[in-house]
Amino acid sequence: MVAPGNIGSYESRVRDFCWSIAEEELGIAGKNQVNIGYLCTDRNCRRGLGGKTAMYWENSNGQTKTYTFDQLRLATNTYAQLLKDLGVKPGDRVCLFMDRVPDLYIAFLGILKLGGIVQPLFSAFGEEALETRMADAETTAAITQMKHVRKLRRIREKLPTLKHIIVVDGNADTIKEGEVAFNLDNAKSVEHFDVYPSERETPSVLHYTSGTTGKPKGALHVHGSIVSQHLTSRWVLDLQPDDIYWCTADPGWVTGTSYGIIGAWSTGTTQFVFDGGFSSEVWYRLIDKYKVTVWYSAPTAIRMLMRDGDELVKKFKLTTLRHLVSVGEPLAAECVLWSQKVFGKAFHDSYWQTETGCILISNYPGMKIKPGSMGRPFPGITATVLDLKTHQPLSETGKVGLIAIKPGWPSMMRTYWNNSATYYGKFKNGWYICGDRASLDADGYFWFVGRDDDVINTGGHLVGPFEIESALIEHGAVAESAAVGTPDPVNMEVVKAFIVLKPGHVPSDDLELDIMNFIRKRLSPLAMPQHIEFVESLPKTRSGKILRRVLRAKEWNEPVGDLSTLEND
Ligand code: PRX
Repeated sequence: MVAPGNIGSYESRVRDFCWSIAEEELGIAGKNQVNIGYLCTDRNCRRGLGGKTAMYWENSNGQTKTYTFDQLRLATNTYAQLLKDLGVKPGDRVCLFMDRVPDLYIAFLGILKLGGIVQPLFSAFGEEALETRMADAETTAAITQMKHVRKLRRIREKLPTLKHIIVVDGNADTIKEGEVAFNLDNAKSVEHFDVYPSERETPSVLHYTSGTTGKPKGALHVHGSIVSQHLTSRWVLDLQPDDIYWCTADPGWVTGTSYGIIGAWSTGTTQFVFDGGFSSEVWYRLIDKYKVTVWYSAPTAIRMLMRDGDELVKKFKLTTLRHLVSVGEPLAAECVLWSQKVFGKAFHDSYWQTETGCILISNYPGMKIKPGSMGRPFPGITATVLDLKTHQPLSETGKVGLIAIKPGWPSMMRTYWNNSATYYGKFKNGWYICGDRASLDADGYFWFVGRDDDVINTGGHLVGPFEIESALIEHGAVAESAAVGTPDPVNMEVVKAFIVLKPGHVPSDDLELDIMNFIRKRLSPLAMPQHIEFVESLPKTRSGKILRRVLRAKEWNEPVGDLSTLEND
């Protein structure tokens, strides 16, 4: 079967696959120099797309802006030059701490043109979440907005490497000493910038992600990642020249950078960016207004749309939508069937991770969708399911094991920043272990089962129990705690904290609220426990490790499993 557009059938693409297809398309075959900032801007202008709209932007107040690829080229040059003039050097980490304003997207590419390493941080992060990540990365500069700068001011003294804070909507009256007010609209546009001659292995983006143990880990990516981000954008997202593409993810997370910036613009696609929260009505209105054709979103959003009903959909003209893709959490069969019913198009699931940089497994356009399955590996990706104990590929279909990928695709992380031991620990028997469980069916489709660790996936965002528990312990009333995921109809799971109080403190609604707010401010609204249960003690192993899986199993009404190591059983 021939897929929509000109991307070819899945079978023929698998048979004839070579990553050089993307290199040819990007014009980098046989060349050493590869710079994501250049390829997403100047190169599009050189191939005649300078006047094409690169970005339609709108915020929740209804303000709008539009940038052509030529304006994007100039604006990214301007950011690169600003950083260079400040003394930021190639290899320095520059953090982006902003809402989805145009500067976020532009500065991202400007930093890359300079050869800096972009460190995107979610703008809702609290001081502690910020400090942990910036201290680990030894961040040199931060680019932020007035509404977020206060958090940086409060931790600046604890970050000796942080030399520059650039405030994109600041002015001489609002900024503090040692900060730079910068306004792109008033800045002198830089026509020419000598793009840093980065190569495929030159570091590009440092994305922090949560694990079960220890602090968040920085997955380090390289400029060569664009090869797989480009090809997956073409073949899985099916981006074509006339598309209006909307990736609803925030660039604080990997989907918002790999596909909300790099894949969108390496393919020269016009994308729409919305700087605002979720509302079914607003989202439908925006699809209608901007005539969105390709939509990349997540199951939590789909569930919220479903909750708001089918009648609302009918109020808008959504017939421009031609391809829908989902990521971040299991996409239930009922979501696929619902989208088929109301939009006339099924959501196509896609599976990948911060660490992998690009889509690994997906429902390729034109391929038969089995609702509830993640689909098959992207051509060029070798994926399998390994036995839980032996780490050998399972020969039996239908048996649950670990999702594993043969290393070597271009956008694989190159290490965890300052933590190569954990990076190497992710490989077993020559496979990269994703840390998720799935089964494979006889047709080679993957069926997601769950995570293989204690990380909580709330609304498609991973939060690490360790980070929450470390923050909880700083609250005056908390003696010890365990954070686990508990079922939630919209967000799949939300954080629940089991808390043992210090002597002299008694459970109360006020205390519960105080603890919740404490975490929201320090870490983020996502990490805030939605439920708190005060307990006398926590289940632990004989060696004193908290057995979160026991608490989790009870929340999900699942069997607890082997309790032979339980101390206080
Ligand atoms: O557990 C899997 C889940 O999200 C994890 C990766 O999260 P993160 O690194 O934040 O990247 C999210 C965006 C790529 C995975 O290990 N996950 C991601 N996609 C799916 C999924 N779970 C089920 N189905 C998916 N399609």
